[in-house]
Amino acid sequence: MSLIRPLVAGNWKMNGLRAALTEVEALTAAHPAPACDVLLCPPATLIGAMVAAAAGGPVSVGGQDCHAAQSGAHTGDTSAEMIADAGGTAVIVGHSERRADHGEDDATVKAKAEAALRANLVAVVCVGETEAERDAGRTLDVVLGQLAGSMPQGATAANTVIAYEPVWAIGTGRVPEIADITEVHDALRKAVSDRLGDGASMRLLYGGSVKPSNAAEIFAVENVNGGLVGGASLKAADFGGIIAAA
Ligand code: G3P
Repeated sequence: MSLIRPLVAGNWKMNGLRAALTEVEALTAAHPAPACDVLLCPPATLIGAMVAAAAGGPVSVGGQDCHAAQSGAHTGDTSAEMIADAGGTAVIVGHSERRADHGEDDATVKAKAEAALRANLVAVVCVGETEAERDAGRTLDVVLGQLAGSMPQGATAANTVIAYEPVWAIGTGRVPEIADITEVHDALRKAVSDRLGDGASMRLLYGGSVKPSNAAEIFAVENVNGGLVGGASLKAADFGGIIAAA
């Protein structure tokens, strides 16, 4: 791991009722001063309550998606400004589940990331190849293409985080070889550095079946600056183990 302060982010996806907020309290009690930044992104219904449950501790709270518009006739959607108003400090955009389930393309993801920056949220921009794209030897093309198309105007190392999540590694227990993670993250580092003056310090997260048992090895890769964790972020014991590895 480099000198960049790592970020360990949890994505609860469509999981979590109010009763689950005891996990946040347990996490805060067990890790009052972690060696990394910690972010949890619950469903929109829980953002405000999680902000209250996490108050005074190291856990920041974010959204899992936002609309590109600030407000208006968009039934069922949540704006970046609303996430900020609820106490959130970040939002995930371009997760592969959004890209697949809601047909979000790079232009949509970029517009959402720009909405996040306008609301003073950190944009966590996700990229990642499918298994078919990997098998076709297209991993770097796909990932770098998504990065170029999804990166918001005005991105800096302070307001934007990139998360590399191979689609085939999400929720499957399968993780790329360390050499493969290294190759992709080196390419991402070069791309953000070429594009941005301060890209050399932008945080590049790995996501996809991160667990307490594999986190240390993954986080030891030079251009991996933390993780975006799904299933293992739901329980304080598991997420705490990953935080401890960062
Ligand atoms: O956004 C995090 C995610 O897609 C990874 O999920 O369950 O494989 O850690 P999981």
